[in-house]
Amino acid sequence: MKTNTGNGSAKAGRKPSGAEDNSELKKLYHEILKDTYNAEKQLLKALPKMAKGATSEELTAAFEDHLSVTEEQVTRLEQVFEASGLKVSSKKCEAMEGLVKEGEEAIEETEDGSLVRDVALIVAAQKVEHYEIAAYGSLRSIASILGLSEAANLLQETLDEEGDADKTLSDIASQINAEAYESDDEDSSSTRTPEKSKKAQESNKPSAGKSSR
Ligand SMILES: [Fe+2]
Repeated sequence: MKTNTGNGSAKAGRKPSGAEDNSELKKLYHEILKDTYNAEKQLLKALPKMAKGATSEELTAAFEDHLSVTEEQVTRLEQVFEASGLKVSSKKCEAMEGLVKEGEEAIEETEDGSLVRDVALIVAAQKVEHYEIAAYGSLRSIASILGLSEAANLLQETLDEEGDADKTLSDIASQINAEAYESDDEDSSSTRTPEKSKKAQESNKPSAGKSSR
């Protein structure tokens, strides 16, 4: 019977795998975890603004739903730190800062109550999801190599959730993009009533805040 060859995973046993590992790879893994932890926290602040800015009920609901998912992901990341024998800490994620800024621009640069705004918000949100999918996929793989199976499982859970969120956004986009294009020609009246239940949402928005900057 052959031992595993060719992809490096057979090396996992050579080192003090798991929590005691002091390898450079383990340090890098910690840095990426800190970055991702910060990214999620930035997103916690941004999602309520995106939900409030969205025109359609579907997109508003998707952002609100992803807010509660993101809250759980922050907690799960804390569990990942612990399961990896690492201190919970945060390091500013420049990439998420830029992505959040693009989300703010999506709102600033489009008309209030328009479906084009939703198209712009979906673009921004999917960029966020793809960034997170890259981060969690990489973290999951590194955790496996480091022999951190519990952490790898937790990271996989979040990775799956980010994939689901991305799929939801794609589904909403397939409808909204077309409607946005139609309502461009028509004079907005036909497809949707932009106000919707948006006023109702104002009540459950989290403590008004400093704009993330
Ligand atoms: Fe997330």
